[in-house]
Amino acid sequence: MSTTVRTPAAGRRLREPDLDAWIRSGAWRDLPESNAPALPALATEILELAADPDVSQVKVANAVSKDPVLATRILGLANSAASAAAVTITSINEAILRLGTRIVCNVALADRMAGGFQDQRIYGPFGQTLRDHSIGTAYVAYLVADTAGLPSDEAFLCGLMHDIGKLYVLKLVHDVGLPSPTGKPSASTLRLVTDTHAEVGGFLIQKWGLPESLQDPVVWHHEPWRATREPRATAVTYAANRLAHRYGFGVPRDEEYDPLADHEMQELGLDESAVAELDARAPGLYEVARRGLR
Ligand SMILES: [Fe+2]
Ligand SMILES: [Fe+2]
Repeated sequence: MSTTVRTPAAGRRLREPDLDAWIRSGAWRDLPESNAPALPALATEILELAADPDVSQVKVANAVSKDPVLATRILGLANSAASAAAVTITSINEAILRLGTRIVCNVALADRMAGGFQDQRIYGPFGQTLRDHSIGTAYVAYLVADTAGLPSDEAFLCGLMHDIGKLYVLKLVHDVGLPSPTGKPSASTLRLVTDTHAEVGGFLIQKWGLPESLQDPVVWHHEPWRATREPRATAVTYAANRLAHRYGFGVPRDEEYDPLADHEMQELGLDESAVAELDARAPGLYEVARRGLR
């Protein structure tokens, strides 16, 4: 049975069952462009640099230097990566030489995404937990891709963006729904977010003009077997998300999940020793990243 609920006029709000039906129907696609969340400042520029295989050090340095807080974080990271060296790194150019343009772009992007979407009225506690989950999944995706012999920088980006649709679903609930009487998202809202975020994420990737190669990994990260254009990157994103749940990165720890019994993991060549190595490396990497980024 399908219910047709029309998009309400500006300022009008929908009750929960109607809101649910309206979001599930995809009618929100008709809203003005300005309603969708915007990419955080500097993120677009850094994304373009990250997508350019021949990006110059000067361009990355110029972009990162636009935000002194970001520049300071990159310097801190470069110095901790170079702690064995006697010389302290004091310029962004030296930091890029030490870490490489790709890693600097990835860290800068994770920092931008983590800093955006913190509006408590719209996202509530989700802003924080989603930030942690996305950064954790990005680092796991990087490690999984590396283990599977696939491009790890692209995997990082897929992991970072995989649940981005959750933010827009929460914004739609905030903008178009009646406020929850308890002030917290209802069980029905949580179900709605779970059921619709992957498709909504695909919409945002397109709206933000992000690389087409992100579509499959974002839209099918819970059903990787449905990906047609980027099956490997989608499998990596799926695996990273499952493992991020296993480790409890920004979400309750999933004790039930057994990666060794998962066909998708086997397809990626993640055997017992590969999973043991991921189990050993991922939590430490996540803690460092979480503490370092806002
Ligand atoms: Fe998801
Ligand atoms: Fe996720």
